[in-house]
Amino acid sequence: MAHTPSRRALLTGFAASPILTAFGAGGLAKDAGVERRPPTSGGRLVGAAVRMDQIEADAALRRTLLSDCASVTPEIHMKWDALQPAADTWRTGPADALVGFADRHGLLVRGHTLLWDQSTPAWARERMLETRDRSVLDRYFDAVLGRYDTVGEWDVVNEPIDTENGARDGLRANTFLRSYGRGYIDHALRRARQAAPRARLMINDFSFDYDNPVEARRRAALLRLIERLRSDGAPLDGIGVQAHLDLSKGPLRPEILQPFLREIAGFGLSIAITELDVKEDDLTVSIVERDQRVADEVRRYLDIVLDEPAVQGVTTWGLSDAHSWLRDPGAEGLALNRGLPYDADLRPKPMHAAIRRSLTA
Ligand code: G3I
Repeated sequence: MAHTPSRRALLTGFAASPILTAFGAGGLAKDAGVERRPPTSGGRLVGAAVRMDQIEADAALRRTLLSDCASVTPEIHMKWDALQPAADTWRTGPADALVGFADRHGLLVRGHTLLWDQSTPAWARERMLETRDRSVLDRYFDAVLGRYDTVGEWDVVNEPIDTENGARDGLRANTFLRSYGRGYIDHALRRARQAAPRARLMINDFSFDYDNPVEARRRAALLRLIERLRSDGAPLDGIGVQAHLDLSKGPLRPEILQPFLREIAGFGLSIAITELDVKEDDLTVSIVERDQRVADEVRRYLDIVLDEPAVQGVTTWGLSDAHSWLRDPGAEGLALNRGLPYDADLRPKPMHAAIRRSLTA
C-alpha cells in the first residue's frame, strides 16, 4: 500500500515508520512447529526467491521455505520500481515484511537488486539521463542500504553484461552507462560499501553456462570487467551466477564452466548461484520424463559448479512451478514449465532430490 512520506522521511529517504506491511499489520506470526534444518548444507547456503504475497497466502509454501532454506531473495520487492515508484512515494511494505519474516525465522536475506535497468522507475531513469547527476543514485542507495541494514549480501549491479547489442566493452548500454559512463559500476560499488560497510557486494548476471559463442563472449566480458574493477580497487566481493538453465542449449560442459569459475575465484571473489531454474525444451513428452530431464540438468550443473570451493551457495528462482517466472500465465497442466524443485501442488520433484544430493555429496 502506498503511503505519503513525511518531510523528514523525504529527507532521510524513507518514512520513519515501524515495519509497514501490505499484507496485514506486523507481518506473519512465527510459524509454530516447523522443524528448521541447520542453516547450511555441506557448508553452503541453500535459498529461494520468494514473494511476500505468496508466502503470506500459502502456509504450505511457508513451511516448505522454512524447512528447506537458510536464505531468501525477494523476487520483486527490493527492486527500485517496487520500492520507489515515484520520486516522492516509497512502498516499503512488502520488503519490510519479508525482512521481518526472515529475521523472525533466522533466514538470511540476499538483497536483490540495487541497480537493474529493467526495474528502474521511469522517473529515476529520466532524471539520470537528463541531469547525469549521481546524487539520484546515491540518495537511493543510502536510503535502501540504510533501511535494510541487516541484509548481508547485495546484488549491487544486476545484468551489466551485453556483448551482442552494440554495447561498449561488453557492457550493456543501459540507463546507467548512458548517464554516467562505464564508471557507474565502480561508483555504485563504492557508494554501496560506504552505506553498508559490512555487506558483501556482488555483480549478478546470466547466460554464462553453456558452450556457445554468445555465452563465451559473455564469460570473457565478465572476466574483463572483474579485472578492471579489481585494478581500480572497486569494492567487489563476489559474482552472482544466475544459472537460468535451458535444455535447448545443449550439454553443460565442465571444461567450459570450471575454468570460468576458477578465474573468478582467482580474483579472490566468492560466487553465488543466485537464480537456478530450468527452462524445458519439450513439453510434449511425459511429465515423468520432463521432470527427469530437469533433475539431470540440475545434477550435472551442480556437480560441476560445486566442485569450485568459491561457490558459497545455491538459490533457486522460486520453489513451486506455480510461481515460476517461466510460467505462461494463460497456460495450464502440461504447458506449465517444470523447472523448479516443487510442482504446482508443492510436491517435491526429482529436481529437489538432485539439489539435496549434489549439496551433500
Ligand atoms: O506489480 C504488478 C501488479 O500490480 C500487476 O497486477 C501485475 C500484472 O501482471 O504485474 C505486477 O508486476 C509484475 C511483477 O513481476 C509482480 O508480478 C511485473 O509486471 C513483472 O515484470 C514482474 O516480473 C519479475 C521480473 O523479474 C521483473 O521484476 C519476475 O516476477 C521476476 O521473476 C523477475 O526476476 C528476474 C531477476 O530479478 C533478474 N534476473 C532475471 C529474472 C527473471 O526475469
